[in-house]
Amino acid sequence: MRVVFLGAPGVGKGTQAERIALQYRLAKISTGDLLREAVRNQTTLGLEAKSFMDQGQLVPDSVVIGLVREKLDDSSCANGFVLDGFPRTVPQAEELGKALAEKSTALDLVVNFQVSREDVVRRLSGRRSCPKCQATFHVDFAKPKVDEVCDRCGDSLVQRNDDRRDAIETRLKVYDEQTAPLVRYYDERRLLSSVDASGSVDVVFQHLAKVLAPFLVR
Ligand code: AP5
Repeated sequence: MRVVFLGAPGVGKGTQAERIALQYRLAKISTGDLLREAVRNQTTLGLEAKSFMDQGQLVPDSVVIGLVREKLDDSSCANGFVLDGFPRTVPQAEELGKALAEKSTALDLVVNFQVSREDVVRRLSGRRSCPKCQATFHVDFAKPKVDEVCDRCGDSLVQRNDDRRDAIETRLKVYDEQTAPLVRYYDERRLLSSVDASGSVDVVFQHLAKVLAPFLVR
């Protein structure tokens, strides 16, 4: 199965991509995670990406497309993949289509996660992340066992720079201007399915499993 998770920042794409990838043994390709790894490692690409990310702006298409092409070539994608946070612009979607066509394959499905703006802001502003193992928590919805401490590795949790109020506003604006047009793009190609992502993590997972089921039994 080759699926894209599409939706505004904070709708829960990353949380669900992790679970779906594990459950169905798919590769998870998250451009946000790949870029944050490059920033941590202070690679040239990471240094170029950091200021865009901190401000909530998109990293240039050419940078992100290169990262994804490299991942798609990896043998871990042979059983299929979940793309989380890519594509985010029409040129990225076109490049993804080309890259898959070169491998004589194509997307099966694009899932559009739908959550109210109010809920998205609440999810983003309460998110806490582990800088060491990258686990994600939420101050209300996914609390760590000990306040501000990672359950997995014991490191102190932090708030992402782009989860500050001003950066959240920019990210939502950027989503509306540059990413939302992909809903129509994929609908016109008859690839789009929408999922109500406003419930709990478990409830959203059940909705998703239903939408993905026809593509798993083939
Ligand atoms: P990225 O990391 O992809 O950020 P995003 O798309 O803004 O997504 P988020 O990670 O913020 O949200 P999510 O939908 O994954 O939600 P999550 O599951 O974490 O990208 C970061 C930056 O990198 C971009 O701004 C850009 O600069 C750059 N970038 C990345 N890809 C790019 C691209 N293709 N092109 C150009 N630039 C790119 O959940 C959020 C919170 O909510 C968590 O705390 C979680 O615990 C909680 N939560 C999740 N589900 C639920 C639920 N059902 N109920 C209650 N709480 C929930």
